[in-house]
Amino acid sequence: MKKVDETRIDDLLSQLTLEEKISMIHGEGIFQTAAVERLGIPALKMSDGPMGVRKEFALDQWINVSSTDDQVSYLPSNSALASTWSREQAYKTGKVLGAEARGRGKDVILAPGINIKRSPICGRNFEYMSEDPRLIEELVAPLIKGIQENDVAACVKHFAANNQETDRLAVDTYLDKRSLREIYFPGFKAAIDKGGSYTIMGAYNRLFGEHSSQSEYLLTSILRDEWGYDGAVISDWGGVHDTREAGQSGLDIEMSVDGDFDNYYMADPLLEAVRSSKIKEEYIDKKIRNILRTMLRLNMLGDDRRDRATGTYNSPEHQRAILECAEESIILLKNQDNRLPIQKDKIKTLAVIGQNAERVHASGGGSAEIKALYEISPLLGLKMQLGGEVEVKYAKGYYVPTKIEKELNWQQDSLKLLQEAVLLAKETDEVIIIAGLDHEYDCEGKDREDMKLPYGQDRLIKEVLAVNPNAVVVIVAGSPVEMGAWSDDAKAIVWSYYAGMEGGRALAKVLLGQVNPSGKLAETFPKKLMDSPAHSIGEFGKYGKVTYKEGVYVGYRYFDSYNVEPEFPFGHGLSYTSFEYSNLEIELDESSVEDDVNVRVRATIRNTGALAGAEVVQVYVASKEASIPRPIHELKGFDKLYLEPNEEKIVEICLHKDSFGFYDEDGCSFLVEPGEYEIQVGSSSRDIRLTGNIKLNKKYRYQ
Ligand code: BGC
Repeated sequence: MKKVDETRIDDLLSQLTLEEKISMIHGEGIFQTAAVERLGIPALKMSDGPMGVRKEFALDQWINVSSTDDQVSYLPSNSALASTWSREQAYKTGKVLGAEARGRGKDVILAPGINIKRSPICGRNFEYMSEDPRLIEELVAPLIKGIQENDVAACVKHFAANNQETDRLAVDTYLDKRSLREIYFPGFKAAIDKGGSYTIMGAYNRLFGEHSSQSEYLLTSILRDEWGYDGAVISDWGGVHDTREAGQSGLDIEMSVDGDFDNYYMADPLLEAVRSSKIKEEYIDKKIRNILRTMLRLNMLGDDRRDRATGTYNSPEHQRAILECAEESIILLKNQDNRLPIQKDKIKTLAVIGQNAERVHASGGGSAEIKALYEISPLLGLKMQLGGEVEVKYAKGYYVPTKIEKELNWQQDSLKLLQEAVLLAKETDEVIIIAGLDHEYDCEGKDREDMKLPYGQDRLIKEVLAVNPNAVVVIVAGSPVEMGAWSDDAKAIVWSYYAGMEGGRALAKVLLGQVNPSGKLAETFPKKLMDSPAHSIGEFGKYGKVTYKEGVYVGYRYFDSYNVEPEFPFGHGLSYTSFEYSNLEIELDESSVEDDVNVRVRATIRNTGALAGAEVVQVYVASKEASIPRPIHELKGFDKLYLEPNEEKIVEICLHKDSFGFYDEDGCSFLVEPGEYEIQVGSSSRDIRLTGNIKLNKKYRYQ
């Protein structure tokens, strides 16, 4: 974490009155705190969110006050970014987000969202990265560094165990401490320790009965005392419920959703509590220190301002970076008989079927909404890439009813659209179905009811495949959907998350072979909802209390350990070329570093196909002699290699003690047991190509 001159904090703190201090620790606008002009302390200006800088709101109301000057770059969602499995893309995406935020005059960008994808139907999954803590750890750090290089604070959210939208302001989460430490905390810890996140956002949900945004356990015991966090903690908007608890916890800034700022819990009520000695002023001083430290880190105070990065938004460089990230995020799930890519010069007519072909998604989803400068839809992308020689015919294929129409009989219109689409599919050289979800489903504030494709799309896909078995199926969505009704019949299935303003162009380039796909699933795609551990073992989507009974068996940790066949496994993603894995070498060194182990895993990866491409090589560790039940294997390292045809490279991934431990509740620390461990190197969690064993002789502990 960036060091600052603490004497400057002492100096300012000594000059602040209690009233001024209180004004700095709560919203004085929907998205900012108050300035103390007398001392040159500016307001702290914040904005959502993970996919770009949100539109401009009035100071005290949720009213958009700008017309066109707050249009911005719309970045790939965190789910798309995670599918790249690329630290470099994470860093570049961060740089774009930070520059845009600074360009719009913001100090804090309320991103990234990294909550664990515990269930496939959590409404905000599209904003989050993965079901796997190690993948999150590895991507969140460069993403945050990229953001903060622009003198803008990242605000990693929502701490912690915030994994459902149902009853989101009150739901009380219960889980064992081991799962918290192994699954739900590591991303946040890495955001702080490795990414150096200047701020962090509390969550709406309760954990063990305490509201997360004012939780003594989360914010004081874990974040401050154990992890030594000295950045600023911001509540989720309306996440504070009690003056005393918030005032005495590790929370620094209370934000909320209404304009009655003086009555926020950490405004007049807290002032009163301090004045009447119910709460000690030293609690307030701690908060002020964290806020001033954050401002110093951002070059916001005094002469530092001359050095502050200025940022910019909507630059062509940003658009290029966004395209590159989108290209790497697209996942080729199935490609039987090398159905893809489509040979552009061999076709005269192309049918594009399905409303997600023409839909744009930027402006939906809740707080992640973006007023995009532009957004290229898949249909536009295809037409732009194909040019004038291919006749592209579009059929909606299904009807998306408006809210009012939902009540009426819209099915009849839908049937007509389906028939038109099927007819079109019969008479064109190539057919691409572009189906999926939209932000009616992938949405803050509500979870999906099931994993099914809405609007009768399963039927559409089946009927189109029946008349044209070569039809390519593309799903654009923010979270997994059931595919069993047609996945065996489709030869090619392509997946795109909401991939930003260049998403349609990126998708077209993949479909037409101008880009070789290299995205990999950062989450398991179950066959059906009840296969998912949050539903088959645990509780999800309830009001009141929710218990994560599945414990550490989240995502592939469950599917692979319990032999439940997914539709597509974690880490899966095909390429138009092929890769051969060979020569596994594992070197174990337990003596040259004190209290740690060095395990060097090396393998040779060769591109055996005719096209240049990229492979994400994944390393999983399986504990063979654990004294407690552990997942059958866990991702502990990965690297993305770019290879020309016939080229081979040696990938080297180093593992340390934190790749072997489990959280030992009795010892209150992670424990590495001596014994045998299998090292697996593969292309997905279920496509392990090489294995080897090591034996650790020592026992290690770590936090
Ligand atoms: C969301 C946060 C968001 C905040 C401000 C809340 O409803 O949970 O993610 O940053 O609003 O818009």
